[in-house]
Amino acid sequence: MKFHVLTLFPEMILNGMNTSITGRAMEKELISVNAVNIRDFTKSKHLKVDDYPYGGGAGLVMQAEPVYLAYESIAEKMEKKPRVVFVTPCGNTFNQTMAEEFAKEEELVILCGHYEGIDERVLEMIVTDRVSIGDYVLTGGELPAMVMMDCISRLVPGVLHNDVSAEFESFHDNLLEYPQYSRPEEFMGKRVPDVLLSGHHANVEKWRREQSILRTALYRPDLLEKAELTQKEKEWLEQKMNEKEN
Ligand code: ADE
Repeated sequence: MKFHVLTLFPEMILNGMNTSITGRAMEKELISVNAVNIRDFTKSKHLKVDDYPYGGGAGLVMQAEPVYLAYESIAEKMEKKPRVVFVTPCGNTFNQTMAEEFAKEEELVILCGHYEGIDERVLEMIVTDRVSIGDYVLTGGELPAMVMMDCISRLVPGVLHNDVSAEFESFHDNLLEYPQYSRPEEFMGKRVPDVLLSGHHANVEKWRREQSILRTALYRPDLLEKAELTQKEKEWLEQKMNEKEN
């Protein structure tokens, strides 16, 4: 997976991506991150990339030309027109399904805005997807771009040590992940659930599935509506929830 990030802060992108799991994936060349500095493409003497908005109002708008030229510098080297994601609070909310879809691309361009936005004309020309990472406003698109790249990278084969772990976790089947425990068996008087120490594989699996269902019902009931539960599981959950109420 090759990421190309159009940004005014390329060092922020590179410093954020080159540590931990994504850093190792870059070293192993499973992913690459090309941070393109939009400012390198301004023709202004003072390296200006923004100007006042037509119609008035607060703040500055990123101008179309440097953004377009930065995009063109990478797109001209590609065989087909790339998917270009503009990260903006005005986009569709990012989720695991979107990450899986983006992970199918060989190359992905992410455009980061700053100031009060980017001239709409260049967005209309190059952007294929508008994506938000949640209903809150950040100072720029760099953190959202990194959130997306982190999430997409871990779906690239070989990036996680354990290839099955990307499948069997939160949001797989619309259920949250079950709780995890490690040594010691007792910590400050709190014991690891007995079933996990039993060595009985089928019972462990059953317990984990039940915990996933219970947690989803408690913390994300909106997800549970989309999860597929057996009749027996539905009954078990109803009984559990009743017990909690009483
Ligand atoms: N830029 C500023 N805030 C953002 C958000 N929540 N998601 C994506 N891009 C943004």
